[in-house]
Amino acid sequence: MTSPYPLGLRLAGRRVVVVGGGAVATRRVPALLDAGADVLLVAPEISPALQAHADAGRLRWIPRRFAPDDLDDAWLVHVAIDDPAAAATVSAAAEQRRIFCVRADDREAATAWTPAVTRHGPVTVAVLGGGDPRRAMTVRDAIRTLLRERKGTLLTPAVEQGAPINTPTGSPGRVALVGAGPGDPELITVRGWRLLTEADVVVADRLVPGLLLDELRTGVELVDASKIPYGPSRTQEEINRILVDRAQAGAFVVRLKGGDPYVFGRGGEELLACAAAGVPVTVVPGVTSSIAAPAAAGIPVTHRAVAHEFTVVSGHVAPDSAASLVRWDALAALRGTLVILMGLKNLPAITATLLRHGRPADTPAAVVQEATTGAQRILRSTLAEVAEDVAAAGVRPPAVVVVGDVVGVLPSL
Ligand SMILES: C[S@@+](CC[C@H](N)C(=O)[O-])C[C@H]1O[C@@H](n2cnc3c(N)ncnc32)[C@H](O)[C@@H]1O
Repeated sequence: MTSPYPLGLRLAGRRVVVVGGGAVATRRVPALLDAGADVLLVAPEISPALQAHADAGRLRWIPRRFAPDDLDDAWLVHVAIDDPAAAATVSAAAEQRRIFCVRADDREAATAWTPAVTRHGPVTVAVLGGGDPRRAMTVRDAIRTLLRERKGTLLTPAVEQGAPINTPTGSPGRVALVGAGPGDPELITVRGWRLLTEADVVVADRLVPGLLLDELRTGVELVDASKIPYGPSRTQEEINRILVDRAQAGAFVVRLKGGDPYVFGRGGEELLACAAAGVPVTVVPGVTSSIAAPAAAGIPVTHRAVAHEFTVVSGHVAPDSAASLVRWDALAALRGTLVILMGLKNLPAITATLLRHGRPADTPAAVVQEATTGAQRILRSTLAEVAEDVAAAGVRPPAVVVVGDVVGVLPSL
């Protein structure tokens, strides 16, 4: 058997015809769209997912059986039907036009094979299994695990930016603001995790899951932002300075922040500081505790016919303080869910203000401490009593307070 000749096809703007609208086409089309291909789908019927692509104008669908002329402007054809006679017709038309033809039904009849693929930023690993797709997938899975869990220097930030491996030092650095999620180390995003494993410097917050840091590769400089002295604003200045300095020295710096970087996380200030210094920044959103903590306690922030809105608010500043930017009177008038972060210290004043402005005293309320971690605690109460209950139970930060009918909507697990 001859060896296949591997290529990376650059399909942007080039016509690719997909024949068939079932499960195989549904799986293949997204990668073609991601490659920028001009996808023409030919099939009498198509799946709802393909229909959604067609409705959104991402591809053109011809709702009928294949005709040889469909291939006239094509560079590649994917046959995703299991009728051998119909598939052979497509193959013959492709052969005649010298267009490569991928066959889902018959690998031997195909003139091109699709590899098993794993993508890591701009790096794509494609594996051909010598005609055995399962072998290809097994090898691909092993490589994917290796790349995700690696602690070496396989994919450096420079490689991710397109430079060859072993880029000479002195290459420009950059910063990624990465949301680490609410506490469970498994709740970081795939991209966040990948960037973390590639960092030269990690600047981590107090609320970042410790287990994530346990898995950093050796040689990474770990800066614990919660140990930086000075007051809150000086601390932020110092963090900004560290991000900029390290990046300007050529490092790839991951600023790892609890939850989402932009939800009461000062991520915007850090981005502005980097931008002002000309340091490129990537932002990776995170799973915010404002939604994850209620969810971990079995509380959906919205629920049909119960709450069609939720408001996330900081309770850091007392409601009667001149510095407060929150309209607590307006929040009291809402029917929907209120999620209060950093609200424990001011909880008596917050609940009193909500009650004074008309939110009913028996509105269900819950407090979730250290959500999604092994130390998670849940306290259920009412708006009138939650502040006292929190004090009596000794609930500590970090905790999220949820006020609204959603609190009781699901059975406690
Ligand atoms: C400075 S804010 C940062 C919020 C974070 N950026 C986010 O999106 O979740 C810190 C507050 O988030 C909440 N919080 C963060 N992690 C939490 C957790 N695991 N359980 C409960 N509350 C949490 C608490 O209200 C805490 O005081």
